[in-house]
Amino acid sequence: MIDQTRLPRETKFVTCTDYLQVADAIKGMIIRGAPAIGVAAAMGVAIGVQKSPNPDADFETICATLATTRPTAVNLFWGIERMKRLWASLAGKPAAEKIAAMIAEAIVVKDEDVAICKQIGAHGAPLVPDGKTVLTHCNAGALATAGYGTALGVIRAAVESGKSIDVFADETRPWLQGARLTAWELQQDNIPTTLITDNMAGHFLRSGRIGCVVVGADRIAANGDVANKIGTYSVAVLARENGVPFYVAAPISTLDLTLAGGEQIPIEERAASEVTGVHGVPIAPDGIAVKNPAFDVTPNRYVTAIITERGVARAPFTESLAQLAK
Ligand code: MRU
Repeated sequence: MIDQTRLPRETKFVTCTDYLQVADAIKGMIIRGAPAIGVAAAMGVAIGVQKSPNPDADFETICATLATTRPTAVNLFWGIERMKRLWASLAGKPAAEKIAAMIAEAIVVKDEDVAICKQIGAHGAPLVPDGKTVLTHCNAGALATAGYGTALGVIRAAVESGKSIDVFADETRPWLQGARLTAWELQQDNIPTTLITDNMAGHFLRSGRIGCVVVGADRIAANGDVANKIGTYSVAVLARENGVPFYVAAPISTLDLTLAGGEQIPIEERAASEVTGVHGVPIAPDGIAVKNPAFDVTPNRYVTAIITERGVARAPFTESLAQLAK
């Protein structure tokens, strides 16, 4: 995996050879973004059983350890559950056969994710207004998935379909996924991109140049409430205020239909040092109180549509999402 803590200054690859290293990579944001976390978790379970002297005895510990890495992105739990179901179905088979099947499944999870992102792109591209700017928040790109991206997949597909668009990327304080990752990723693809700080989004949404907002998601409740990177809610409200469509692009694996509404989604609280400093350089007085929720919830009423690999869901989301998830 690319070490996302070092981008864009350094492109360094990290190789994980046991499941604890995978867990540390997810926790330490070496790999991040909901679908990428799901793929890494599936790979982590596969490595765990491959390396264990007694995989049947260790299986629950491997899964439980990976499950404690990050709480909000439901794809993590989806990836682990998928591997658990396969493991259960292999009971009684020879160990070598079970391990080979688990490794093969993890590779399928990765390959499927790229195909899913392409399908999300195909469904989303027609929604992107030609000749306008797309605003995005955080990084929901190739780096956040196994490739191509969800929100950035929609942007890539719109460009590939011949639309003349450019992108405004919110820098996404405090971790700076927009400045460090989205700006880097889109620049690599020669998609015209302008970096703005988060507090500029309202100004540009009001200016008339933004044709739509497209963001990713970490978890979507049954009613269409969307948990995504902190700051997404503010962008959604400002988009509505200014009559700009607000689209969420996410795979079906990001739906959590067990939760009726967004207030039930667990929100990760991260280290105060991310807020009191930038790249380790202190910017605030010592001892100041800090809050650092990594995600917020955008109520479904601000969401114009949710773009999935199976099609586009619109309000009422309880019905449209249930239909797509079938
Ligand atoms: O804390 P992160 O960087 O893992 O948060 C990522 C996001 O919020 C993304 O927008 C979301 O996971 C969708 S990625 C396709």
